[in-house]
Amino acid sequence: MNEFIDRIKAALAAATGADPVTLKIEAPRDPSLGDFAFPCFPLAKTLRKAPPAIAAELAQNLGAIPDVSVEATGPYLNFRVDRGALAASVVGAIQAQGDAYGGSDEGRGKTVVIDLSSPNIAKPMHVGHLRSTIIGAAVQRLFDRLGYTTVGINHIGDWGSQFGKLVAAIDRWGADVDLENEPIRALLALYVRFHEEVKNDPELEEAGKAAFRELESGEDGHVRATWKRLTELSLREFDKIYARLGVTFDHVRGEAYYEPYLDATVERIVAAGITEVSEGALIVDLSGVEKNMAPCLLRKTDGTTLYATRDLAALFMRQDEFEFDRCLYVVGGEQRLHFRQLKGVLARMGLDWQERVTHVDFGLLRLPEGKLSTREGKVVFLDELLDKARNEAERIIAEKNPELANAETIAEQVGVGAVVFHDLKKERVKDVVFDWNEVLSFEGETGPYVQYTHARLASILRKARAKGFDTEGEVDWSLLADAAELLLRLGRFPGIVASAAEHAEPSEVTVYVLELCREMNSWYVKNKVLTDDVALSTARLTLVAAAQTVIASGLSILGVAAPAEM
Ligand code: ARG
Repeated sequence: MNEFIDRIKAALAAATGADPVTLKIEAPRDPSLGDFAFPCFPLAKTLRKAPPAIAAELAQNLGAIPDVSVEATGPYLNFRVDRGALAASVVGAIQAQGDAYGGSDEGRGKTVVIDLSSPNIAKPMHVGHLRSTIIGAAVQRLFDRLGYTTVGINHIGDWGSQFGKLVAAIDRWGADVDLENEPIRALLALYVRFHEEVKNDPELEEAGKAAFRELESGEDGHVRATWKRLTELSLREFDKIYARLGVTFDHVRGEAYYEPYLDATVERIVAAGITEVSEGALIVDLSGVEKNMAPCLLRKTDGTTLYATRDLAALFMRQDEFEFDRCLYVVGGEQRLHFRQLKGVLARMGLDWQERVTHVDFGLLRLPEGKLSTREGKVVFLDELLDKARNEAERIIAEKNPELANAETIAEQVGVGAVVFHDLKKERVKDVVFDWNEVLSFEGETGPYVQYTHARLASILRKARAKGFDTEGEVDWSLLADAAELLLRLGRFPGIVASAAEHAEPSEVTVYVLELCREMNSWYVKNKVLTDDVALSTARLTLVAAAQTVIASGLSILGVAAPAEM
């Protein structure tokens, strides 16, 4: 569809002398006015005329644009593309490019690093990490579509004083839990028990501290072996959730991975001359970066490093190793200060690439169970959440379509897809309230609704092909004149993908896919696809196939399966 916009821009540039790249073409507020609009306000200054006068004049003087007609309405020029040409362009592009439609190679040669998921091993992966995993993976897929080299890194929280506590807890009560088979639940139980008993047991407190000191010392003994074991067991458990979500990582690098680089990192920051010692701790003052910003702590009084120190080591390494054009941190909004501090340290070091580092933050996911606390053992296990979604989907499918083959696989796709879709529906900074009825509804703005629309289109195509219709041959595009709105929507998909990537905002795709489904369904209600008129049926089938391709493509960016039947 871009060729029409390019033609419009070229004609406008020729008539006004403006640089085509500076010309902004929009969608008209009222679609009945046209397909594209050019607001004449920006030209008022150079042409010294009122925008409505400019519009009227341009409508007269603009050279002929192939397949495009023009009309002035107030300060706007409105353009309308010939319906046959529109259908040929949009559907033709989708047919030619298939799954690749919507992508581009604008990112070729550029690298985006994405920090995502990053759960803490000592605790169960919580819903915040679920959001980071789902949003981060969608953002990575968006950049993949645009031809970027993407590097997804799972920055596992596998370091810190809580590991000393866990080792101490395993030493005392390890025999009471099933670490091997239920590591996440076992570790949670130990964590909770530690915090219970430590209240009246100073020895336990000391044992935890001693274990962490030993861990930090690098000593390769019993403590390190226990830490390693619990790390491996937890990761194995996390992997089951990642598999269900269809998420993989290019690197799984826990905080401990950066241990060997911590001294060099601190030295580098000291060498920049921006550190000071405050109450025995090594800090970077950031009050000049942002008013009242707290300093960044690099080393505690006892010499141990912190979350921020390890993040700085990781960031330097990412810059050296990947020479990224962008480095995105998909982490909840509660860590806003932390990432501003990281960027503040880089800014104070005079490293201008801090501008390429972005905290892609997001709001809370609120479950009906209310606020949860790991310390008290009140958590929602993600595997249980996904199980519940699958079971509910299974029940609904059994009710709606008892004959469905592969019902089990499809129930998993629908259940997990519903959770993922729901998470990506609103702008990421907004909080998400999880309501089971809403998440799994087959009507309304839900994953199952989109999947169901997709399955329905797939079924129309199956039936048509069985009847011998050909969806790949010659098409009389003018027969799709009544589907202009849908065609324009399909034509906008590449722009949506580019915009969603730029904003790291998968919800732009979710909203788009929902609108496409709504339009497709209402078109479909009005227009019979398989009729006695072969040419008409063929044209309509190509449109159905194009819509199916784009819905499936949108879902695949989001990480939601697109079953052909459900
Ligand atoms: N493990 C951290 C947490 O759960 C999130 C880590 C995010 N990534 C990072 N590079 N800091 O709070």
